[in-house]
Amino acid sequence: MRLHKTLLATSLLTATLAYSCNDSQQNANATTTETQPASAAPASLKAAFEGEFTIGAALNGQQAMGRDADATPVITQHFNSLTAENIMKWGPIHPEPDKYNFEPADALVALSEQNNMELIGHTLVWHNQTPDWVFENGKGKPASKAQLLQRMEEHIRKVAGRYKGKVHGWDVVNEALNDDGTLRQSRWLTIAGEEYLERAYRLANEVDPEAELYYNDYNMWKPAKRDGAILLVGNLQEKGIRVDGIGMQGHWGLENPSIAQIEESIIAFSKLGKVMITELDIDVLPNPSNRNGADIDATFEFDAQYNVYTDGLPDSLQQKLAQRYADIFALFQKHSDKISRVTFWGVSDKNSWLNDWPIKGRTSYPLLFDRNYQPKPALEAVLQSVNKQANAQ
Ligand code: XIL
Repeated sequence: MRLHKTLLATSLLTATLAYSCNDSQQNANATTTETQPASAAPASLKAAFEGEFTIGAALNGQQAMGRDADATPVITQHFNSLTAENIMKWGPIHPEPDKYNFEPADALVALSEQNNMELIGHTLVWHNQTPDWVFENGKGKPASKAQLLQRMEEHIRKVAGRYKGKVHGWDVVNEALNDDGTLRQSRWLTIAGEEYLERAYRLANEVDPEAELYYNDYNMWKPAKRDGAILLVGNLQEKGIRVDGIGMQGHWGLENPSIAQIEESIIAFSKLGKVMITELDIDVLPNPSNRNGADIDATFEFDAQYNVYTDGLPDSLQQKLAQRYADIFALFQKHSDKISRVTFWGVSDKNSWLNDWPIKGRTSYPLLFDRNYQPKPALEAVLQSVNKQANAQ
């Protein structure tokens, strides 16, 4: 496989076109590529990891509908897996009891089909971005257990049913755990009890038996949360309920978590099924507290002292980010027998949710493409790291 990759890399004339920022650079790159030795970097992320894991991006509604002209070429060149960043969540897709808004998600399905990409559905059951009416009885009081489970059933039948045969895998339940590994006291749990978990997976399996079914959460490198996830998924599997894999959201920092911490969870989760890195982005901005994770409710007031790189990322940090990504991908490659997909949470820095979370209105730099959809040194570092590994073997 490695040999195959190296050959592939050298044979792709267009390889370095991807990194060039202007025409003169493009010409220079095109000329050198033809004569490059076997160490040339692959043409794209998806080519780089072909046969190991798919490479995904979460797309926003505009990108899904082809209305972000600069995004489309980057998406089709580099990715072979797409996730709906928001448009398949309950709020956007099913805002009112009898109202569904399928148009953006349909467009995403079409985009994935046209480009032969796998599509990941995100997400069927979550405590966030789910309208209040789901949890209420219509008179301002909490819904009964039966009512809530009935709504969940309708929702899964309608949404997973519509995309049956089109979605490669569903994040069936998202973020059901606290960081200490106990079950989150969400309205799903307090109203319906633990049964909601079981019901969600059984239903998803019934509606789309071919789709892979996942459990997805953040801070999965934390030992207590890791244990909680293993218990949650293990219990379901022991009951004969199908859960095919575990998604580790990769909302990480420049220093933390450590490679060893991430590795321990990859190994532990692989005993239960497929492992996916589902929401990768590396936050380089200073934060008010020692925050980690991705609780979308944990926000802070805007404060300029935490928005320090409005004119661009200093070179030293650019290099640090590149090295961090290289280290992370070296780990993923080491465990490519366990990891089936790595998905970035966004395409470019321009679209990243980290511009607005945990503090609104910041200039953030977490991804491999800059605000103009141009490759950052981090992209090159990831592609080069593939080659280093290949040559080392
Ligand atoms: C985020 C989106 O990126 C934002 O656009 C939205 O405003 C809030 O949600 N964990 C998840 C994702 O599972 O769905 C979240 O996505 C980020 C944290």
